[in-house]
Amino acid sequence: MFTSGLIAALSVLSLLSQVSAIPSAAPRNRTLNSPPKIGKRCTGEIQSLSDIAAAEECDTIVIGGFTVPAGETFSLTPPDGASVSLTGELTFGFEEWSGPLIEINGNDITFDGGGNDLDGQGTLYWDGQGLSGGTTKPDPMLTINMSGSFSNIQIVNSPARAVSVNGDSITISDVIVNNAAGTAPNSLSGDNPAGSNTDGFDTAGNDITITGCTVNNQDDCLSINKGTNIVFENNVCEGIGHGFHQQRYNCFWSYNQWNTVTGTVNGLRIKTDATATGSIVENVVYENNVITGITEFGVIIDQSYPDTLGTPGTGVVIENVSFDDSNTVSVESDANAVEVNCGSTSSCTGTWDWSGLSASGGEGSTIKNAPVTGFTA
Ligand SMILES: *[C@@H]1O[C@H](CO)[C@@H](O)[C@H](O)[C@H]1NC(C)=O
Ligand SMILES: *[C@@H]1O[C@H](CO)[C@@H](O)[C@H](O)[C@H]1NC(C)=O
Ligand SMILES: *[C@@H]1O[C@H](CO)[C@@H](O)[C@H](O)[C@H]1NC(C)=O
Repeated sequence: MFTSGLIAALSVLSLLSQVSAIPSAAPRNRTLNSPPKIGKRCTGEIQSLSDIAAAEECDTIVIGGFTVPAGETFSLTPPDGASVSLTGELTFGFEEWSGPLIEINGNDITFDGGGNDLDGQGTLYWDGQGLSGGTTKPDPMLTINMSGSFSNIQIVNSPARAVSVNGDSITISDVIVNNAAGTAPNSLSGDNPAGSNTDGFDTAGNDITITGCTVNNQDDCLSINKGTNIVFENNVCEGIGHGFHQQRYNCFWSYNQWNTVTGTVNGLRIKTDATATGSIVENVVYENNVITGITEFGVIIDQSYPDTLGTPGTGVVIENVSFDDSNTVSVESDANAVEVNCGSTSSCTGTWDWSGLSASGGEGSTIKNAPVTGFTA
């Protein structure tokens, strides 16, 4: 998560999640103000960016493998209901610029990556500084601004954040974000990991399901910036190993079940801005997650952002946080299993039934100003 700068500060800190039940098939609403885009019955083939305009006329689009020229966005807006497939690897030429490297827009699109790679060539950009300095990095690498389904692709070595999801009503499945190469330091990063701010998924839409995905990176696995009905299930988050405490790495979601988080600095985290007002985080449900090998905080809910466990504010309410069924959290010896740092019992409110949480290891837990039941720190 990149948290300096106005946009990031506003969007990151106003988590608005409304997840009281697993959403049923949500109505697929067309993007406001965009007229229907009707495709012709044809197959459009894309072997270079100059093929895109013609291919966008067709209801079936096949993208071959090629190198996207440096400094250009591969921007595709297929007709409503189109099927898009990838049949080879896309590599993105190196240039210092803001990106994104590829974006898919549209309504009711079926995107199948065919198991192919999108290679962002992050190793050419990484300098340990992420988005806070150094090389200008395309960010995000991939913008998914569509409804429908997006599946079966590997995002390799994103220069900064990997995937931004802006669209509503979308299921993302079988996507691998593989930034494992960024965990080792390089000649520019000193003792720090070379990769930084390499978030897996950042979401800012509604009715988003992310399932069966794997993220290996150096920052958030999932970061929910705003939106309702975000379901994160059956995913694996593998983070950076021991010993890197300089930055925040965390997994952050609003409804999540059957996920595995291994060896990251933080497991489950909700953070709200100490001074913001008028936002609410509500109905966060954790179910059947396995969190192991955490080096800092297994579960952290903190109203003191940008500090960690500093003086909490009360302007962003967190209402209803539950751990259902069975969630296990085990942390390393110098970590804390559970830390809750709320400003008051009116800013952390509602039902906090944590009977489905078992936490072990580390230096203990603290719960401050939250109505937690079923779990004792
Ligand atoms: C779709 O539109 C209907 C009717 O306007 C509305 O009730 C519903 O909330 C919308 N759904 C989404 C996902 O925006
Ligand atoms: C998202 O896609 C819609 C078309 O479906 C387009 O009108 C809009 O500009 C796109 N938004 C961004 C941020 O690209
Ligand atoms: C919190 O949960 C209670 C009951 O469990 C429910 O009545 C209330 O509407 C929930 N709050 C929100 C904001 O949905």
